[in-house]
Amino acid sequence: MLRKDENELLTRVGPGTPMGDLFRRFWLPAALSEELAEPGGVPVRLRILGEDLLAFRDSSGRIGIIEAYCSHRQAPLFFGRNENCAIQCPYHGWRFDVNGECVEVSNSQNYLRDVPNAKERLAIVAYPTHEAGEIVWVYMGPPEHKPDFPAFEFTGVPKGYCHASRWLQRSNWLQGAEGEIDTSHISFAHKDLSSEHEKVGITGLQYSLADSSPVLSIKETDYGFMSGSRRNYDGKYFWRMTQWMAPMFSLIPRAPADDFTSGGGRAWVPVDDNNTITFAYNFRVDRPLSNRSFNSSRKARIFRHA
Ligand code: FES
Repeated sequence: MLRKDENELLTRVGPGTPMGDLFRRFWLPAALSEELAEPGGVPVRLRILGEDLLAFRDSSGRIGIIEAYCSHRQAPLFFGRNENCAIQCPYHGWRFDVNGECVEVSNSQNYLRDVPNAKERLAIVAYPTHEAGEIVWVYMGPPEHKPDFPAFEFTGVPKGYCHASRWLQRSNWLQGAEGEIDTSHISFAHKDLSSEHEKVGITGLQYSLADSSPVLSIKETDYGFMSGSRRNYDGKYFWRMTQWMAPMFSLIPRAPADDFTSGGGRAWVPVDDNNTITFAYNFRVDRPLSNRSFNSSRKARIFRHA
């Protein structure tokens, strides 16, 4: 059980907090590619690590994740027009591109030309983005520390081999992460699943039901740790192994012969100190996902929060 001060340390994620700084040193899932499918389409409001952001695909197809408010009078850019390679503020029409640069001061046309350093002064925050694994990713940390994009297996498979979804979870990220690696709950919380879900959803559920008191162990690795649970079944051991990759990515065990997926896991992205967006990813490495796999994966609801 964590002490109160330990809990505070691990769950405060705003700018300048120890965990906030740690999360900002990683590429984080931000939105789904399907939410930003259309160039010039409707932007997506995001809140990540306590920062209000806006994701959009501009009319030329570039993706931007910028601060949510205009640098002039703080009008919400979500209500602006996404056209001509920029978002136009709904209030006085200033236009911002995917790099956060103010490319037009529409109500004072000569401003950018006449005022020294105008571009720098009017720019808003913009973070680097990357699209892979049906997810739009963001890096929110110091530019000089930006790491290479991580080589997750699911981000390297061809289109159609991977499906991602996301939902809002009304808990801090650590509570979600604890549930993810708590394998003993499977024997209880998943007990009444239908036989159909049993086949496609949880590997070895019959073993988990047979022994509800697993022996847990942790092996530290250079990417995080591997957690194992050992259950007794018919005179043998059944091991269930979960990979945990810093700071908050999981790989959940799957059966290779399953028609569903060959891999999958979740990422627990802090919205703020008290809320989390959970990303789920399922993939195959040997062939595209079947319709059955897609349909099951799509049961997770996409949530866009205001
Ligand atoms: S508030 Fe955005 S241009 Fe004035």
